Amino acid sequence: MRIVIRSLLASTIISVALIGSAAGATPEAEQKFRQVCATCHGPQGEGKRELKTPSIASLPAWYVQTQLEKFQKSIRGTAADDVSGQQMHAIAATLTPRMTEAIAGLVSKLPRNPTRNTLKGDLTEGEFIFRDVCMQCHRYNATGELVFKSPPLIGLQDWYIERQLRKFRDGNRGADKRDIKGAKMHLMVNDLSDADLRGVASYISVLAAKQAKPAK
Ligand code: HEC
Ligand code: HEC
Repeated sequence: MRIVIRSLLASTIISVALIGSAAGATPEAEQKFRQVCATCHGPQGEGKRELKTPSIASLPAWYVQTQLEKFQKSIRGTAADDVSGQQMHAIAATLTPRMTEAIAGLVSKLPRNPTRNTLKGDLTEGEFIFRDVCMQCHRYNATGELVFKSPPLIGLQDWYIERQLRKFRDGNRGADKRDIKGAKMHLMVNDLSDADLRGVASYISVLAAKQAKPAK
């Protein structure tokens, strides 16, 4: 018990220190992160499976800001089947443009949580799909490409990746007429089976593990 409390305390102190060092992050954004975002995404932005929240730590500021704006403009998170998107839609609506930008900067400075392979999909098939389809936009190592506005995938949990791929395929994300980038993702996955999506999400987690920095 004592160990648990001590490690909880330690992680809180670490997260406070990390947030405090985020360049450009305002004290208001730090407070908002701790009081609001951390309740669902965790104190380090690491995500929580039971709440279906992604690990947002280290996502680039441009991507976080774009996604928050998509939620705010009801481009993402409004489909009837997309309950977790709806949650984030409601939260994003409470942020001013200034806060949106500041908090995107803060999130981008949090250290990445490397993806673990929890899905156990078909890695051979997943690698084939990744090289054949995904790599051209997300890069060979899945670190993303600003020019294509394609985000890094290696900090996301594999189950979150799988869920998002299903949302894109089934028209729960990327279906709004204004969502040009989301529509690209829909096109890329609309003929893939559930097993294909699981395989490629698993393969991305293996790629991510290879790039994990040793734990400090
Ligand atoms: C009530 C719980 C909740 C709170 C509070 C919350 N989020 Fe979220 N957030 C979610 C869920 C659930 C998702 C996944 C949405 C989906 O499945 O499309 C999400 C998704 C996101 C995404 C999209 C990530 C990606 O990879 O596309 C960003 C960015 C984000 N949240 C940032 C924030 C920020 C910043 C805050 C604080 C202002 C915040 N969230 C507060 C539940 C929450
Ligand atoms: C034509 C370029 C392109 C290709 C090919 C592509 N993507 Fe994407 N992907 C994007 C863009 C752009 C986004 C951002 C969409 C948005 O703004 O909502 C994205 C978003 C995603 C996301 C959401 C990440 C998050 O944080 O929520 C996942 C997961 C993803 N792609 C996986 C894949 C996989 C797996 C493949 C191969 C089957 C693939 N992508 C192929 C361009 C591409």
